[in-house]
Amino acid sequence: MARTSTDVLVVGGGIIGLAVAWRTAQRGLAVTVLDPTPGGGAAQVAAGMLAPVTELQYGEEPLLRLGIASNQRYAAFAAELTGATGLPTGYRATGTLAVALDSDDRAELRELHGFHQRLGLDSQWLTGREARRLEPMLSPGVSGGLLVTGDHQVDGRRLCAALLAGCERAGVRLHRDRAAELLVTAGRAVGVRLPDGSALTAGRLVLAAGPYSHRLAGLPEGVLPAIRPVKGQILRLRIPGPYAPFLSRNVRAVVRGQHLYLVPRADGELVIGATTEEQGYDTTVTAGGVYELLRDAHQLVPGVTELPLTETGAGLRPGSPDNAPLLGPTALPGLAAATGHYRNGVLLTPVTADLLAAYLAEGTVPDLAVPFSPLRFTQRAAA
Ligand code: GLY
Repeated sequence: MARTSTDVLVVGGGIIGLAVAWRTAQRGLAVTVLDPTPGGGAAQVAAGMLAPVTELQYGEEPLLRLGIASNQRYAAFAAELTGATGLPTGYRATGTLAVALDSDDRAELRELHGFHQRLGLDSQWLTGREARRLEPMLSPGVSGGLLVTGDHQVDGRRLCAALLAGCERAGVRLHRDRAAELLVTAGRAVGVRLPDGSALTAGRLVLAAGPYSHRLAGLPEGVLPAIRPVKGQILRLRIPGPYAPFLSRNVRAVVRGQHLYLVPRADGELVIGATTEEQGYDTTVTAGGVYELLRDAHQLVPGVTELPLTETGAGLRPGSPDNAPLLGPTALPGLAAATGHYRNGVLLTPVTADLLAAYLAEGTVPDLAVPFSPLRFTQRAAA
């Protein structure tokens, strides 16, 4: 069997895999990324909202800390990547306005505001009129809002293209193929077998294959929990001309129990997302999905239906059993994970990359990664 070897093999070259590879190569390790289409995956579909505060859920404070840590790194991460590659990332410090339409939404948003205040987060309550003063395209039906000046945005497509270039410049080897099987020798992950029967061996492996992570053949049972695919349908519209003000910051709301957000990019693109559907590995764009997004967005910002609709798409969020990511060494020696980021993959990219690179280079798990150890599922299964 032919063999090629590397210090670190990253299985999966989506946004997380590429960022881990880039940061790890910067630490002086020889890194290979294995993926048939590196730079693909959910980030090609995602709106790229960096919203640790406005997407906060009760009981998810450790995830909030991780999200805030990543958000704080974003500007420097994006600037460094652009400096290294000359490519833009679409990082934009816009802030986010979360709004309420009816009295139930307002009560929920008030509760979220109280939660923010208890946690000392920057979040300001606005009346409907104050919200509309900031964003005149909002519906007169908007009855209140929360201004969160620290929740920003990035363009996942541009970021992936820049990461791909950054990896190449940092000496990462991109192997455009898929892993047929994980190779385990004497209880340690040592590489993968490729479809042609050859082997790619590595000192350490990082599994970063999103909702496909646990499906790698040869992975011993119990090492990773099932990472479920959670479909999100999304729309892209175009705001015509640079002089037509539409939205100047991200706008979001919970409409009929669904998270809805409108993300205006600097180049005039307006992204509207997203459905949350649990139905396996299906990425069909449905008439119902598009209808619901447009109906809800129209209720929030009536002018959206005047805009050209340029693209529809669907992606799969990788959801772990507790919806938090798996970061760091698994129960299988030689194998680490960087997966299960669910709704937060784009947001958590910089911090995931830094934490995994630190672990791979130094051999110890950084404190920030400890609550997200993949071992939490192994230990639960063994109990
Ligand atoms: N973070 C937005 C989403 O997953 O839809």
